Amino acid sequence: MTRKIWVFDTTLRDGEQVPGAKLNLYEKLEVANQLKKLGVDIIEAGFPSSSAGDFNAVKEIARKVGKVDDVIITGLARAVKADIDAVYHSVKYAEHPLIHIVLGTSDIHVEKKFGKSKSEIMNIGVDAVKYAKTLLPDVQYSTEDASRSDFEYLWSTIEAVVKAGATIINIPDTVGYAEPEEFGELIFKINDRLKNVNDRVLLSVHCHNDLGMATANTLAAIKNGADKVECTINGIGERAGNAALEEVVMAVNTRRTLYQAFTNINTKEITNTSRLVSSLMGLDVQVNKAITGENAFAHSSGIHQDGLLKSRDAYEIMNPVEVGLDDMELVLTARSGRHAVKNALGKMGLRQLTDPQFEEIFEAFLKLADAKKEIYQHDLYVIAENYFAKHHPYDQDRTQHSRHFYELIDLQVISNFHFPSASVKIKQNEQIFQSSAVGSGPIEALYAAITEIADFDIKLIEYKITSVSRGKDALGKVSIQAEHKGETYSAKATDTDIMKASALAYIHAINLIVVDRLLQVK
Ligand code: KIV
Ligand code: ZN
Repeated sequence: MTRKIWVFDTTLRDGEQVPGAKLNLYEKLEVANQLKKLGVDIIEAGFPSSSAGDFNAVKEIARKVGKVDDVIITGLARAVKADIDAVYHSVKYAEHPLIHIVLGTSDIHVEKKFGKSKSEIMNIGVDAVKYAKTLLPDVQYSTEDASRSDFEYLWSTIEAVVKAGATIINIPDTVGYAEPEEFGELIFKINDRLKNVNDRVLLSVHCHNDLGMATANTLAAIKNGADKVECTINGIGERAGNAALEEVVMAVNTRRTLYQAFTNINTKEITNTSRLVSSLMGLDVQVNKAITGENAFAHSSGIHQDGLLKSRDAYEIMNPVEVGLDDMELVLTARSGRHAVKNALGKMGLRQLTDPQFEEIFEAFLKLADAKKEIYQHDLYVIAENYFAKHHPYDQDRTQHSRHFYELIDLQVISNFHFPSASVKIKQNEQIFQSSAVGSGPIEALYAAITEIADFDIKLIEYKITSVSRGKDALGKVSIQAEHKGETYSAKATDTDIMKASALAYIHAINLIVVDRLLQVK
């Protein structure tokens, strides 16, 4: 029988504890709305007693996001009256409010952090739950540092707070010390006893990633009876972060028969949510991060590309569409084999090439790929067109199209406090165009100048500049939309000059729109 696993998202509380990731009220509301779209069951919107700003944000999320639908809104409280009051007075506006109380159970917390006896701490926890129950029916109790606690004391605490009225028991691996097999056993033992005391109480886990095992520990807990998991988007959170929601959810989805479980997450919203959280919090997602990393569904080895084109399941366990991406990406590099290049040419309508024709084009591809890091569709287009221009110069259908691509000839960017400005020289259709623009910053000015020359309405979706090769080269990354279509075009470029890398990435992305137009016309 498959069980529902409740998903509790703590991006706005544990995730927001990442230094520098603080969001303002409007940004928090935007994230909370997106989490609702994603289908999480519970949103932990903040720590209301920590500041007036946090209190207000939790209250606004409860009022605006928690007012309709099933989503539960909670906030964190220490086991003290003032904290519990702050949570109550902020979450009470939600249709389904929940008070979340945390108090340590390990000897380290009880003795060293609080300097109290175990029974004193247990009584504080029980009193906190009893008080919270006078305010709301739903109360979650977290036994902080549970994975390093003495088991019998941990269990006595759980039993006591359940008797006091706790409706959810959360077992945190606060410092990421647990190991999957051991954590699974702990959850099994607790679940066994808990369901005998009260089988309506949900058993939850909250794992940290200090040893890189947050997802593995969370999944081990699911296998051993946990009803609910606490996660964050992109795995952000205190220190090394929390269990990543997208990893736990996709593991449960992909290995459904193994876990005998499902979640209510709308997985098609995973990529949107990840990008929103990353851009608002200013936290880049590691490129090879499972599910949400830029390369998670990109294949670059020729052997893999060949296998995928023969049968996708050769190297693909999840369809990228399931997480909200368009499709898998076959990156064309010097390592790509014939099969991938043939496939890319086929997408451009060049399906009837003879073997000698293809071999000559492939050779030109390899030469360019050795010189450039990545080959774009417009590069391949130029290679194919050069081939036809050489062998069939009068075949107008196959030549003379690449003149529609834009080529950066020169640029000048001036950065100052008042009027950052940029001028560019761009070649297209054998003509040189010049344009200048001002902007609120040098990149805005640069992109405005380029956009003026390009023949489209362009909306910039994402821009990033990072250093590569120990800081010598800058890597510009751009995603744009041609407004009339809504499709996203992404491209990269490297150069030692950050302005040039930024301009080239933008122009590469524009050229992808040109290729699309050319292919539609054909
Ligand atoms: O890591 C932790 O123990 C927590 C609790 C508040 C659940 O974040
Ligand atoms: Zn935590």
